[in-house]
Amino acid sequence: MESAHILIGLSGSIAAFKIASLVSSLTKQGYEVRVIETKHAAAFLGPLTLAALSHHDVYTDEFNGANEAMIPHIALSRWADLFLIAPADANILAKAACGIADDLLSSTILAATCPMLAAPAMNVHMFENIATQNNLKTLHERGWHIIDPAYGMLACQEAGQGRMAEPADLEAAIKAVLAKNDASRQSESRQEADLPLQGKRVVVSAGPTQESLDPVRFMSNHSSGKQGYAIAKAARDLGATVTLVSGPVTIAPPEGVEVVPIVSALDLEKAMLEQAEMADFIIMAAAVADYRFKDQHDQKMKKSGDTLTLELVKNPDILAHLGANKKTGQILCGFAMETENLDANARIKLESKNCDMLVANNLHTKGAGFQTDTNIVSLLFKDRTEHLDLQTKEALGHIILKTMLSLQEGDSVHAALR
Ligand code: PMT
Repeated sequence: MESAHILIGLSGSIAAFKIASLVSSLTKQGYEVRVIETKHAAAFLGPLTLAALSHHDVYTDEFNGANEAMIPHIALSRWADLFLIAPADANILAKAACGIADDLLSSTILAATCPMLAAPAMNVHMFENIATQNNLKTLHERGWHIIDPAYGMLACQEAGQGRMAEPADLEAAIKAVLAKNDASRQSESRQEADLPLQGKRVVVSAGPTQESLDPVRFMSNHSSGKQGYAIAKAARDLGATVTLVSGPVTIAPPEGVEVVPIVSALDLEKAMLEQAEMADFIIMAAAVADYRFKDQHDQKMKKSGDTLTLELVKNPDILAHLGANKKTGQILCGFAMETENLDANARIKLESKNCDMLVANNLHTKGAGFQTDTNIVSLLFKDRTEHLDLQTKEALGHIILKTMLSLQEGDSVHAALR
């Protein structure tokens, strides 16, 4: 991180002279260095020296800047990637620990949100004083990096701990903190990239419905639930909070996913309408019966004549209802299970059910549809259709979800489909 912004604050100590070589070294390596000096620090090491070495004016007072519109303590605290207080005398450590802001350096410390380092320098008794030790403990607990002073003969002719660390040690500490910060920033952005659905609620329906005729018999279809379960797993892996509304299947749900079991289309309707209230993305992969028996019998129906006519009544179209009542920002993905004229029939469903996208599979295509671990689909959008090759149902789940995210964020779906 060669162009990191390093702010150095000097307080009153003879050790200030060591900062000249630190500033010189950092500047030569391409770091951007700015310096604040307290009045007492400036008495030990003139601002002119530090200005020449850092190639910038040195800040000594809140009110001595050329730019009157600039509020130095705010501007400097925002500018800094790292703030080193060196030498840190007992007074500045006490002010920092208590939050006192009565000059430029202490005000900038209070306003700073970047990593903080302090290199104490003082008389051994001042350093060992319980007040100073408590202040250092407080700062350490707040996340400050304290660069311990060395033992030796001090300027006051007493021997003990209090000599500020050498410029090479300060430089090493600065680089270590910058590297750690850089690594944690990279890992945060990696996490964001890996979990693009973090914070999103995804509701997926899966499997068949069963429409009961009597305690023994029902009407259903061949859906295994594999496609819906694979989408739920993909959503979980992309960081979403997932609810899987599932018809009766024999496969296990992915761990970490809430499962709402349903049996009939009416059950599914109730569950989906409840779940839709809070959902960002809804995917209707369930194979829903369009009709149910008009009469459902409590007892097993007895055999009678050679033919039997059973009356069916229409089930509600759940997807159409969800499409007509979409919440703000909600993205709705339907499926279409076809055996002929795939794209044309699917487009009618996309439009009539007000879906944002629709995944169409043809049951007559090998490797697609019911029971398989793979699928071959067309993705339909309001303005275009994309044909995808054979892939696992889970890989398709990733594509569907990333495409829905693009739709929600108003991005081109093109990138999600690459
Ligand atoms: O479970 P698998 O074995 O893995 O098989 C996957 C699958 C073939 C079931 C899946 O890929 C699929 O196509 N699911 C949708 C099945 C379906 O009901 O298609 P449809 O064309 O009949 O219905 C269109 C859409 O309306 C679907 O999103 C469906 O969930 C929904 N629908 C249908 C009827 C109804 N009454 N209410 C609905 O919401």
